[in-house]
Amino acid sequence: MTTLRCQPFFDPTTNTYSYVVDAGPNTVCAVIDSVLDFDPKSGRTHTDSADAVIAYVREHQLKTEWLLETHAHADHFSAAPYLKRELGGKIAIGEAIQTVQGVFKKLFNLEPGFALDGSQFDYLFKADEHFTIGEINAQAWHVPGHTPADMAYVVNGNTVFVGDTLFLPDVGSARCDFPGGNAKTLYASVQRLLALPGDTQLMMCHDYPPAGRPAQPNTTVAEQRAHNIHLHDGISETEFVAMRTKRDATLDMPTLILPAIQVNIRAGNLPPAEDNGVQYLKIPLNSI
Ligand SMILES: [Fe+2]
Repeated sequence: MTTLRCQPFFDPTTNTYSYVVDAGPNTVCAVIDSVLDFDPKSGRTHTDSADAVIAYVREHQLKTEWLLETHAHADHFSAAPYLKRELGGKIAIGEAIQTVQGVFKKLFNLEPGFALDGSQFDYLFKADEHFTIGEINAQAWHVPGHTPADMAYVVNGNTVFVGDTLFLPDVGSARCDFPGGNAKTLYASVQRLLALPGDTQLMMCHDYPPAGRPAQPNTTVAEQRAHNIHLHDGISETEFVAMRTKRDATLDMPTLILPAIQVNIRAGNLPPAEDNGVQYLKIPLNSI
């Protein structure tokens, strides 16, 4: 087994963890769930978060092979196209993104040419497909529930980028009330993750720490099975679904869901410019 190096980058504005994973200096890397900063008040994007990733990759002389997305995020824009321009690499997501594109093309009444085949991405993983990051073995698990297209990337057999499935034990699990989300499906996806060996490292896509606890990117399967407030050992599917459904009914939509989805189903690209050269995002009224 390769010695894996995994560098987290935390964006405190959206509570998102991005990662660079590699086998050491001068090797090949994957960037997972990058963030393009966006200020909804001014409509301006900026690249501070992504530039920190780029600086790390360059400092360690890494060759970027993959720009991986765990899903079409609803709380931040992906910086994958910017990273691709700066570093290279293939932008990849699970093939079920096609389902998500279908739902949101309709909601946003996107341009007729907006393709529903995932071709905005460079690569679509089939469920459980094996791939490599340089010399590192990896597998793309399809772990739906939060959305229909969530993936978890199992890297080197001992480290899993879980996306929005589980959060740290004191936070629990991802919501399941977005279009196509399903609490029963998430329960099954999590059971699969938690059947991995107890010392498997689980790398979070987010942390929302309670007051007094610093944000933390990782935990283990054993910790989750013992202490996850929503999904520790012994919680049945029925109990989980009842808890999740009740809780989701109380949650506001994420601030950036409408802007972020429009960008992320385009693999992080902004919409095409209109005839005045300006790019726009839409806000559907009274529709979700
Ligand atoms: Fe998400």
